[in-house]
Amino acid sequence: MSVERKQVLVFRALPEDLLARIAAQHEVVVADPRRPEQQGRFRDALATAQGLIGSSVKLGAAELAGAGRLEVISSISVGVDNYDLALLKRRGIRLCHTPGVLTETTADTVFALVMACSRRLVELSSLVREGRWTRHIGEELFGWDVHGKTLGILGFGRIGQAVARRAALGFGMPVLYHDPFEVALPELVGRARRANLDEVLSSADIVACTLPLTGETRGLMDQRAFAAMKPGAVFVNGSRGAIVQEAALLAALDSGHLRAAGLDVFAVEPLPPDSPLRCHPKVTALPHVGSATHETRRAMAELATHNLLRALAGERPAAAFDLSGIAD
Ligand code: DGY
Repeated sequence: MSVERKQVLVFRALPEDLLARIAAQHEVVVADPRRPEQQGRFRDALATAQGLIGSSVKLGAAELAGAGRLEVISSISVGVDNYDLALLKRRGIRLCHTPGVLTETTADTVFALVMACSRRLVELSSLVREGRWTRHIGEELFGWDVHGKTLGILGFGRIGQAVARRAALGFGMPVLYHDPFEVALPELVGRARRANLDEVLSSADIVACTLPLTGETRGLMDQRAFAAMKPGAVFVNGSRGAIVQEAALLAALDSGHLRAAGLDVFAVEPLPPDSPLRCHPKVTALPHVGSATHETRRAMAELATHNLLRALAGERPAAAFDLSGIAD
């Protein structure tokens, strides 16, 4: 039986073998719209594309207006905030993503930021690197213990739970989490408890955000939320920058209310050169690398390729994003 060859637009670099797997079944155009010289090719290919695969590009109503034949978007990400979900639902476009395969790596990144902020690792490392380690360090450079501190987790999905396991089982940290759902994990019985947002913010020594970006979470960490955190607490964000009102975070750091912040994500990425967060002495900033290891990025690309090919064939992909609950 001959299977229809469809038009696929790959908008982010894929490993050669995966590209070849797609090209064996479909007509492929590779064009990354973040590169000015490829924008024309991207626009042309979008007009006839039936399948898209890639990540880190906003594809809302304006961008998809000319994509009249689109059937499937396979995102190489777990987050789906780059897409207009209501529009995809209305137009019957299938959305797939890559949950699960990046959980542990992203939780490692979040926990690395918890450690880096509390023990001042980046600041102390630059002391050595820059030749400023000229005498034994004193109290003014001491860190803050992580073990025994209470960790508050905003969002208790797969990544939040993996962070909780690291904290509770590895570092003896009691965990409070804020999530619409109670999650019963046998290994965390007596170690992690669900609480409302105010209780998490006001009781935790360290607050880590692993929430998805939605209409409800956008701007959630505002001036009131930072003021509700314990004096001297640490804030870490490993999910999406737009959940945080950055001016409010800066004010909380500058006033001395917060000890430090660890940020892997920002409202605008890459972080603009003039952002006060870039060189802030209390901020440990990473360039959105939550899932950026060789193994995990490979696993994400494989899952996204599988999702794309299955969905284009009218079969059930391993990880379709459920649009049924999205309001029209
Ligand atoms: C994800 O998978 O959502 C990562 O944050 C990359 O965007």
